[in-house]
Amino acid sequence: MPIAFTHANGAAMWDVDGNQYIDYSLAYGPLILGHNPRRVVDAIEAQVRRGISFGANHPLEAQLAEAICRVVPSAEQCIFSNTGTEAVQVALRIARAATGRTKIVKFLGHYHGWADNVNLGSYGETDRTPGSAGQDPGAMAATIVVGWNDIDALREVLDDDTAAVIMEPVNVDGGCLHASDGYLEEAAGLVRANGTVLIFDEVITGFRISLGGAQAKYACTPDLTVLGKALGGGLPISAVVGRTDLMAVVADGRVTHAGTHNGNPVTTAAALAVISELEAATTEIYAHLDVMSTLLAEALQAATSGSDHALNVRRDTGVGHGFQSPSPILEYGDTLCASSERYGAFTAAMLAEGVHLMPKGILYVSVAHTEGDITRTYEAARRAIRRLHDGRQHSSSPAAGS
Ligand SMILES: Cc1ncc(COP(=O)(O)O)c(C=O)c1O
Repeated sequence: MPIAFTHANGAAMWDVDGNQYIDYSLAYGPLILGHNPRRVVDAIEAQVRRGISFGANHPLEAQLAEAICRVVPSAEQCIFSNTGTEAVQVALRIARAATGRTKIVKFLGHYHGWADNVNLGSYGETDRTPGSAGQDPGAMAATIVVGWNDIDALREVLDDDTAAVIMEPVNVDGGCLHASDGYLEEAAGLVRANGTVLIFDEVITGFRISLGGAQAKYACTPDLTVLGKALGGGLPISAVVGRTDLMAVVADGRVTHAGTHNGNPVTTAAALAVISELEAATTEIYAHLDVMSTLLAEALQAATSGSDHALNVRRDTGVGHGFQSPSPILEYGDTLCASSERYGAFTAAMLAEGVHLMPKGILYVSVAHTEGDITRTYEAARRAIRRLHDGRQHSSSPAAGS
C-alpha cells in the first residue's frame, strides 16, 4: 500500500501514523548527507530569503561550477540543468554538435532517464522495445544498444556516424555491476580513436562512490560527465561537465541549453553546501559510506540466507543493489534470472517492519546511517522473512522502530 510520509531526519522518516522507518531509498539517491542536513538546510533558508529565483546570472553559479571542476576530474567547464534526464539530453546534443554525427551507443541495463531516445526496453530487458507506452518509436532510430563489458561488441558498432557512447561507469541501475579489468580504459581508447565523445552518466555514482565519482575511483576520465542526484542533496539540480573544446558548442550558442530553472539560486546554494560538507571531511565520509554499504549488504544477506528469500547484494561505496537470487549476480544476464516479484514482496515485508527499501533493488546509505541502523535492519529482515513465510507481508504499521 502507498505510505505517506510527513517528516524525516538523518536516516529516518515518519509516516502520517507516526511510524518510523530506516530509509535506504534516500529520495532515490540524492540524500548523500541524510535527510535535512543542517548545513544544506541553512544554505537553502538563507538563499530563499535573498531570492528564490532570478532568471539571470548570479555568483553561486560560478562558485558551484568552480567547486565541481575542483573535485570531478573530467570537469573543465560546467552547465546546469534540473534533472538527470535533462542533463543526459544536453550531453548528447553537445556530442552531436561537436562531432557533426548522429548515432549514439548505449548499453544493456544502463539507465539514462526517461526521454524517448534512451528509455529503451534495454533497461531491464534485452530487446529494443520502448520502455514505456506512449514513446515515439522513431526517437530510437539513432540509438544503438550493445552489451556492456564486451569490447568486441562495442568495436563492431562504432562507425564514422557515432557521435557519443554513453555509459554508467558503474552500472548501478543494472545491478551495481562493475566494469571488468581494463574495460573502461579500453573502451575509452576505442571511442576516442573513432572520434566519438565518451559520456559517463554519473547521476548515481557522482559524489557517492567517491567525491570525484566513478571516474576518480576507477581512474578513467570521460570527455563529458552527467551529474545529478547527490549533487543537490535533495534539491533538483543536475550538471553536464567536460572538456572546454566540447563545451564550446554551448558557450558559443550553437547548442541551445534552455530551461526556466537552470542554475536556480536555491538549488545551486544547496549543491554548494553539499560539496563543502563532502570536501570538509572527505576521507571520513567516504570511509563511513563504504563501511555502511558493506555492513548493509552483509546484514541483508546474512538475515535472509538459507531461506527461500535469500538475497544476493552487490555493492560499491555508499550504494548497493539487492536481488532475490540464490546464486551470485556477476553480470547483466544474471540479473534477468533474479525474481523481481520476490524482491518486491521482501521490500513490502521490510516496510511493515520499519525499513524503507526501493522495490527495484537499489540500496542507498548516507552519512547519517549508523551501525545501530544496520543492526536494526538485520533484525527487521529476520522478522520480514518470518512474515513472508507466515504469509503476513501486509500490515498497516511497522513492528519495529516506531
Ligand atoms: C544513471 C542515471 N542517469 C539518469 C537518471 C535520470 O535522472 P532523473 O531521475 O533526475 O531525471 C537516473 C535516475 O535514476 C540515473 O540513475
